[in-house]
Amino acid sequence: MIYLDNAATTFPKPEIVYKTMDTFYRTLGANPGRSGHRMAVAAEKEIEDTRIVVARLFGIKDSMRLILTFNATDAINMGIKGLLKPGDHAITTFLEHNAVSRSLHGLEKRGIITITKVRNSPDGFINPVDIKKAITSKTRLIVMAHAPNVLGTIQPIRDVGRIAREDNCIFMVDAAQTAGVCEIDVNECFIDMIAFTGHKGPLGPTGTGGLYVGERLTLDPWREGGTGFEAASLTQPEELPFKLESGTPNTVGIAGLRAGIEFVLSKRISTIRAHEQHLTSKLMQAFQHDQRFTLYGTTDITKKVGILSMNVKGFKPQEVGGILDQTFNIAVRPGLHCAPFAHQMIGTFPDGTIRISPGCFNTEDDIDQLITALTKIADEKI
Ligand SMILES: Cc1ncc(COP(=O)(O)O)c(C=O)c1O
Repeated sequence: MIYLDNAATTFPKPEIVYKTMDTFYRTLGANPGRSGHRMAVAAEKEIEDTRIVVARLFGIKDSMRLILTFNATDAINMGIKGLLKPGDHAITTFLEHNAVSRSLHGLEKRGIITITKVRNSPDGFINPVDIKKAITSKTRLIVMAHAPNVLGTIQPIRDVGRIAREDNCIFMVDAAQTAGVCEIDVNECFIDMIAFTGHKGPLGPTGTGGLYVGERLTLDPWREGGTGFEAASLTQPEELPFKLESGTPNTVGIAGLRAGIEFVLSKRISTIRAHEQHLTSKLMQAFQHDQRFTLYGTTDITKKVGILSMNVKGFKPQEVGGILDQTFNIAVRPGLHCAPFAHQMIGTFPDGTIRISPGCFNTEDDIDQLITALTKIADEKI
């Protein structure tokens, strides 16, 4: 199968990820714990080594402020629900994934917070000035994707971060689509919290992710339980990361995550991104001026990651996705991509688009085959 659904999860993983996980689970598959036996201590060390590697990915100085989570959704919920208090106001955008939108709307529905959602330009960008205008005396949080998953458009997070800092708001970035494919420095971009998932750009397995918690905030835990020490205490320990990390961690996944990130860093983030952009650009060029296809979001490849949302005139995205899968053996993602408001913004609600997302292991030939297949579908030659 030609796999072009890397925005959902990257596939395949680098060989070293499979090997590391296999070796780890066969030799160090104990429950980590600092006061335990040698295997438990070794498993704990693997976690701490991974924390350091992840911290490197985002320019985080203190790796203990990096909470390892089970995915980006877990991290986003941890950040939003751990921070916001009754009466707070949060600013977000219409481009967000449901991990952000539903977390906020759930709190709003329960009367806990109020929300303002900022609109994007037709080509898929948020204007920082609009964020600034939305700030009130009650605004505690500004939360947005670095690159929303429907359009892949890279947002001006540095400018928004500066505004948040000036106005004393907490700035949270959802880096689910950019971790591992864009250089990100939490300090340069004034980021207080960054959430990421391990199974996309970092090339790790599912069940991994993380949340950076900056020094300007404290979070209440939304999951409480065993931390492997201070068991007699009635409440969670206050120190990070333990305050926010209870329960048995996904150690085998964490080992795989480290291997994935080390692979990314050795290949260089900029090289991987350039490859994915090149393939996406080739695809855009093939269809950009062809009336039978509609492309959404900017076609300036320097302003987006390797994600293209498009439609074939006369076909529903689900039909196109089905034909690509069944007839051409090509995997793409049709539908709403867990981001209904983004589709409302670009006029593709409720059917959505087909989303094509090349990854670091795709080739020019994969894209040529997709172009041929989509052209045949548009010509109804199937
Ligand atoms: C922008 C964005 N945020 C959050 C998520 C949630 O990631 P996960 O399902 O790994 O929690 C995704 C997943 O597609 C995403 O694209």
